[in-house]
Amino acid sequence: QSKSDHQLILMHEFAADMYHHILLNTEEGQVALDYLENRGFTREMIEKNKIGWSLPEWNYMASALKRKGFSEEELESSGLAIPREQSSGYFDRFRGRIMFPIMNENGKVIAFSGRVLEHTKQEAKYMNSPESPIFQKSQVLYNVHHARSAIRKNRKIILFEGFMDVIAAGKAGVDNALATMGTSLTSQHIRQMKRFAQEVVICFDGDDAGWEAAKRAAISLNEDNFKVEVAVLPGKMDPDDYVRENGAAAFKEQIIGKPHAFIAFAMMHARRHKNFQYENDLLQYIQEVLQLLAGRSSPLERDLYIKQLSEETGLSQEAILQHYRKLENKTIERNRPEAPAVKAIKKEPKRI
Ligand code: CTP
Ligand code: MN
Ligand code: MN
Ligand code: MN
Ligand code: MN
Repeated sequence: QSKSDHQLILMHEFAADMYHHILLNTEEGQVALDYLENRGFTREMIEKNKIGWSLPEWNYMASALKRKGFSEEELESSGLAIPREQSSGYFDRFRGRIMFPIMNENGKVIAFSGRVLEHTKQEAKYMNSPESPIFQKSQVLYNVHHARSAIRKNRKIILFEGFMDVIAAGKAGVDNALATMGTSLTSQHIRQMKRFAQEVVICFDGDDAGWEAAKRAAISLNEDNFKVEVAVLPGKMDPDDYVRENGAAAFKEQIIGKPHAFIAFAMMHARRHKNFQYENDLLQYIQEVLQLLAGRSSPLERDLYIKQLSEETGLSQEAILQHYRKLENKTIERNRPEAPAVKAIKKEPKRI
């Protein structure tokens, strides 16, 4: 770690302590503390995640960091302050937001995500630190430093969409929880996850965006040889909503404790927004599921899901199986190694 990276981490640690202090110990922080209490945050959750509050002022953190002896260059590179356009000087990036520190694997603060109290159309609900030498969104997973030992113990990762969900899951004793920082799951995230476990339960939001993101994440993780399961929430709820509505114990037992196998989830996904009274929907459903099965599944899985398809659609298993074989042949055709393999065969001396 370079000296300047170290300085950037010191700035973030300083800022996190300050935001946290303002939230817990000042009159100005009360409005944010009320908000968090309303959302079911306990003191313990606030402290464990070092949650804070940034004052709704233009130049609070920037001048505090300057007083601390950090240079303007460092201020800008940290992303905590933004240079003014018209005049000289800097202003605070985070103003009047609940501050969630994002920590690296060693628990050092490397970035923030700030939430507005009331979110309107004008302002983004969350504002994140920009990329910096110590923070690359595509590589960082929230909660790694807290979750690592629980992940190793459970041999399993519970992957959420948002850090609010990770924090809510903590209430239910689901400690092996990670979340991306508002990006979709990247290959770097997956590589990092692989270091900790081979199994993952995806538990994304129940809205359309969540279902789509879960499908993409499930496919990526499955391709990278994770054992993938997906825990599904009722309606458009997200995990945090569910915990608030039904309690932490129900969340752990009914949602996290009853995940769907990858293919079963993919079938649910394919059934969404389809009406089997329409032939097109029906045929498209079968096509989608068979395509997923082709080339991936064991004979047992194939039989199981083809039987299920037949029951769901009223079409015969034979017809579905025939269609499956066609798709499977196409898949094998597509995956057949190209020219080099053929060359290798040519080099073999003829044995006849
Ligand atoms: N996100 C973001 N910027 C936004 C909205 C979302 O970066 N304007 C990211 C955040 O990392 C957030 C995740 O996407 O944690 C999931 O978004 P969403 O489901 O909208 O947030 P929630 O966690 O449900 O937040 P809340 O309950 O406070 O609305
Ligand atoms: Mn900690
Ligand atoms: Mn969401
Ligand atoms: Mn959500
Ligand atoms: Mn939420």
